[in-house]
This record gives sequence, structure tokens and C-alpha cells, in this order.
Amino acid sequence: MKITTDYFRKAKEKGEKLTMLTAYDYTTASLVDGAGVESILVGDSLGMTMLGYDSTLPVTVDDMVHHTRAVSRGAKNALVIADMPFMSYHVSITDSCINAGRLIKEGGAGAVKLEGGAEFAETIKAIVRCQIPVCAHIGLTPQSINAFGGFKVQGKTAEAARQLLEDAKAVERAGAFAVVIEGVPAAIGKLITENINIPTIGIGAGADCDGQVLVYQDMLGMFPDLKPKFVKQFAAVGDVMTDAFKAYVKEVKDGSFPSEEHTFKIKDDELKKLY
Ligand code: KIV
Repeated sequence: MKITTDYFRKAKEKGEKLTMLTAYDYTTASLVDGAGVESILVGDSLGMTMLGYDSTLPVTVDDMVHHTRAVSRGAKNALVIADMPFMSYHVSITDSCINAGRLIKEGGAGAVKLEGGAEFAETIKAIVRCQIPVCAHIGLTPQSINAFGGFKVQGKTAEAARQLLEDAKAVERAGAFAVVIEGVPAAIGKLITENINIPTIGIGAGADCDGQVLVYQDMLGMFPDLKPKFVKQFAAVGDVMTDAFKAYVKEVKDGSFPSEEHTFKIKDDELKKLY
């Protein structure tokens, strides 16, 4: 069953938790989808996890289209949500709609995500008017690291938390079907979740959000560069990969790989003709 934004709405009504993980390529998307994860976020975190930048800021719309296309081929059931990268929706409403449209038409995504609250309400409205579902993203929004002065937990004062709640209400009014809340105290994740009708998807926003999202390399222990407090490592895949790569190096060096079972054969009489 292909999951749609309507599924998100119904899940909140029924009090059922929603699952979301990132993926950036066909193979990972197939595995995530096959495991029953309901939505796949092609996050602009790919700038860091796949492309090796030290922030998400250099990611382009072309990068996002390229990776979204691969993920869409692998996601049979999950709703594919593609991130709008930095400066792809900041300059004009027209640009925002064109860029969101590319992620749907060329990337095959079912929805887009953009970082920002009340200040992007008009942009969200315009994209939704193009029949493109929008997931908003508030709190510790990584595209704002220069404005925030680093990766800092948001909403830690009553005033800041009130603004986050206003942001969540504004994006709901603008037509967003869901909102990601990142890096806020658990009590603020709960407060927002209880005060809006669209599902909240938390990342470092506590257990009371309507769903959770993680970057898959973080939860698999594959990305040692950054280890945020909110990440639970569900497996040590990085160690498994490193051990396998080391075993490969050893076996190639000592000649034990490839062995008979990994080798093609030619009949002896044919081979003799060559000597
Ligand atoms: O880019 C991303 O992966 C994200 C998640 C951290 C929510 O926006």
C-alpha cells in the first residue's frame, strides 16, 4: 500500500506513532521500505552523510533531485519526502514552487519538506496551492546554523518555546500536512504535539511527538563525525563494514580470495589451444 499524507492524518487521529528514516539511494531505500518504515526522508543531511560537507548549506536542488530519484525507485510503500535545500525557497515564491515541483516531477517524491515556521507560511501556502504536500521543520533547523551560532537546542525559554508553538500553528494554518520538530526540550515537543492537529515528527524532541525520524547512518552507527545526544544506535553497522573491508584486504593480499567457488572455468582442451 502506497502511504500518503492522508495516512499521516489518520495516524494522529488514531494515536498511532509514525516512523520516518532518511535514505539517499536505491539500496538503502529498498531496505528501509521493506522494514515497514512509513516515510523516507531524502534529507539535505545527505550533504554531510553522503557528500562529506561540514554542513547542509552547499546542497543544491540538483543534488536533491538526483538522490530523490534513486530513493523513489526503492520506496514501494513509504511516502518519499524530499528536502528543499538552503536558498531553494528563500528568495521568491515562484522559485520555491518551481524547485518544489522539480522534486516531485523529476525526483518522484510524494511531498517536500522545508525548514522554517511562521516566516515561511506564505511559501508553504503557495507550494500547497500547486498540489504539493509540504512537511514543515521547526526548532533546531540545520540550515540556520550560522544564524543560531551552531547546533544548539532551541525553545529553552518560555518566550522561545511560545514562538515555536506559534510557528507550528502557522505552518498548520498554511496547509502543511506534518511538522518535524528538531532539538527542543521534550516538554516543548509534547506541548506542540498537543496543540496542533497535524502530526509532529520528532528528532531530539522527546517521546510525545506523533512520530520519530532519525538519520539512518546515525542509528546504524555508520557516521562517527557527529553523535548527537538524541541518537540511539540500533546497530553497529560501521564496525561490521570496517571488519568486512579489513577481511577483504587480508584475503586479497594473502591470495585466499577469490577461491574456486568465486572463479569461472574454461574447458582444458580450449585452454590448451592458447599455449
Ligand atoms: O536533513 C535531514 O535529514 C533532516 C532530518 C534531520 C529531520 O532534516
